[in-house]
Amino acid sequence: MDVTRLEQAVTPATRCILPVHLYGQAVDMAPLLQLAANRNIHVVEDCAQAAGALYQGKRVGSFGDIGTFSFYPTKVLGAYGDAGMTVTNRPELKERLRRLRFYGMEGGYYSEEEGYNSRLDEVQAAILRLQLPELDEEVRGRAKLAAIYDEGLRGVGDVALPVVRDGRTHQWYLYTIRTGLRDALMEHLAAAGIETRINYPTPIHLMRGYRFLGYGEGSLPVTERLAGEILSLPMYPQLPESHGERVIEAIRGFFQGH
Ligand SMILES: Cc1ncc(COP(=O)(O)O)c(C=O)c1O
Repeated sequence: MDVTRLEQAVTPATRCILPVHLYGQAVDMAPLLQLAANRNIHVVEDCAQAAGALYQGKRVGSFGDIGTFSFYPTKVLGAYGDAGMTVTNRPELKERLRRLRFYGMEGGYYSEEEGYNSRLDEVQAAILRLQLPELDEEVRGRAKLAAIYDEGLRGVGDVALPVVRDGRTHQWYLYTIRTGLRDALMEHLAAAGIETRINYPTPIHLMRGYRFLGYGEGSLPVTERLAGEILSLPMYPQLPESHGERVIEAIRGFFQGH
C-alpha cells in the first residue's frame, strides 16, 4: 500500500482502512495510523502473508483495531487444512468477535446477533501450536534463499528485486520480482522445469465479482501495471541452495538472450 496516496483515497464515507501486509512485509503503518486516528477511521490489518513480521519492533496485527491471520496450508505459518485467527487489543471487540464466530451466540443456543460458523478447528489449533515455535526458524530458511536470489539476480536484465524497507522485517512468504518481460521469462523458466507464479494476475477491482464496486480499467494504474510485471520465484525453506542457483542461472540465461 502506498500510504502517501491514502489521504486522497479517504472520503467522508470511509469507515475502515485495510492494509494488507503483502508478501510478508508490513505496510508503512505509522502514517497510516496517524491519518486513521485524525479521521476516526478503524484499521483492520490483513496479516495473512506476514504472520510474525515486525514493524518498528512490533508484530503486525498489534497496530490496528483488529488483525486477521490466515493459516491456510501454504502460508508461512500453515495448518494442515483451512484455519485462521483474528486478534484485537480492544476488550469489547474481543467479546464480539468470539460471539460472531459462533452464530452470534454467547451460550445457551441463543444468538445475540447474526453470526457465522467460523470456529478454529481444535486439531488445526493443536498443529499450529506445535508449529508456532518453529516460525522463526522457518523464516530464517526463507531469508537465506532470499539472500541467494538477491545476490544472484542483482543487476540482471531489467529485474527489480524485492526491497526490505527500514524498520521492517520480511517473512518471505513470497519472493516476487518485477520485469517488463514477465510472460516470456515465465515461459522460459517453465521450459526449464521451474515453476513460478503470478501473485496475483488480476487486480481485484478488475474481477467480474467486484465490478459492482464501480472501478474499472485505469482506476488503479499502478496496480494494473504491476500485475503485468510481477513474478514469484520458488520459495520455501526446504528448497536446496543448488536449486536456488538453478533458478538464478535460468533467469540470467534468459536475459542474455534479450
Ligand atoms: C493477503 C491475504 N488476505 C486474505 C487471505 C484469505 O485467507 P483465508 O483463505 O485463510 O481466508 C489470503 C490467503 O488466502 C491472503 O493471502
